[in-house]
Amino acid sequence: MREKLLNLKNEALAQIIQATDPEELERLRAHYLGKSGVLNQISKEFKSLFDEEKTETGRLFNEIKSAISQALQPKLENWKTGKLENLDITLPGIRPPQGHLHPVTSAIEEISSIFEKIGFIRVRYPEVDWDWYAFESLNMPASHPARDDWETFIVDAPEHPKLGKIVLTPHTSNGQVREMERLGHPPIRMVNIAKCYRRQSDVSHTPMFHQFEGLVIDENINITHLKGTIDYFVKQFFGPNRKSRLRPYHFQFTEPSFEVDVTCDICLGKGCKLCKEGWLELGGAGMVHPNVLKAGKIDSEKYTGFAFGWGVERTYMMKSGLKIPDLRLLYSNDIRFLNQF
Ligand code: PHE
Repeated sequence: MREKLLNLKNEALAQIIQATDPEELERLRAHYLGKSGVLNQISKEFKSLFDEEKTETGRLFNEIKSAISQALQPKLENWKTGKLENLDITLPGIRPPQGHLHPVTSAIEEISSIFEKIGFIRVRYPEVDWDWYAFESLNMPASHPARDDWETFIVDAPEHPKLGKIVLTPHTSNGQVREMERLGHPPIRMVNIAKCYRRQSDVSHTPMFHQFEGLVIDENINITHLKGTIDYFVKQFFGPNRKSRLRPYHFQFTEPSFEVDVTCDICLGKGCKLCKEGWLELGGAGMVHPNVLKAGKIDSEKYTGFAFGWGVERTYMMKSGLKIPDLRLLYSNDIRFLNQF
């Protein structure tokens, strides 16, 4: 009996010391000192003891009971009055986990600030827009086969008599005529960064991605301005040792049209397993087609312009040192992946 009581005391005191919240203390109190608690159960066993043992054990019993309640009481009081026991304010705190911007968000911020330095204005246009802005005003009539290249999601909604269907924008070029309408006249120097959607998903494509679209319209704008702007961006974003080139291509809304390539970050243009003879493809560009200027009510005799539209994710992946094997990882929301940036 003596041993049982002493063990019980040790066990109770250890639990009380370790208890960290009032509910737990309350539970311990009921368990040891409550009406049907352990101590009361034990006291029922007293009957079976011899008389001389009874006095001795009774004293020990009382001692233990008060030791437990003395350990419990002040702790419970402190919780009620808000006083904190054993608080060492000199210990370093626990640092809460801190997040950071998603790599695509940082890329968007970096791209905006590079263009803002040379006078481009960051704008945003609808990511769900009329067919007119996404295609028709860009010299792509409804029946034109080139539209198929954009693998567009079409919204199941009534058509507008003039603006046509509603689509999830497959490129940021819908901002071109919208910007012409907003400003009414040149000079125009915009960078439109927005979400785009296409029916595609593989290692280098996600159904939702971002593009940044540059548009400059003014008097006497020519290809050298386009090339100069591209070179400036490439050096700022990728570093001074990367070069760009224009390759002839076709878009309905630019004439002439180009695909822009950047030297590979591994071989710097010499040619390696990861690139096409030293070059990586950045995206499309060209001189704004007169029909697009007309759609935006701009005098195509007086003004010319250039435009380019590139994928944010794709451009970001071409930064040196970044080897992302699958673009879809960017949107998998796996913290282990995102923590690396
Ligand atoms: N909108 C084109 C695309 O999505 C890119 C582009 C933009 C090409 C501007 C020329 C001018 O591929």
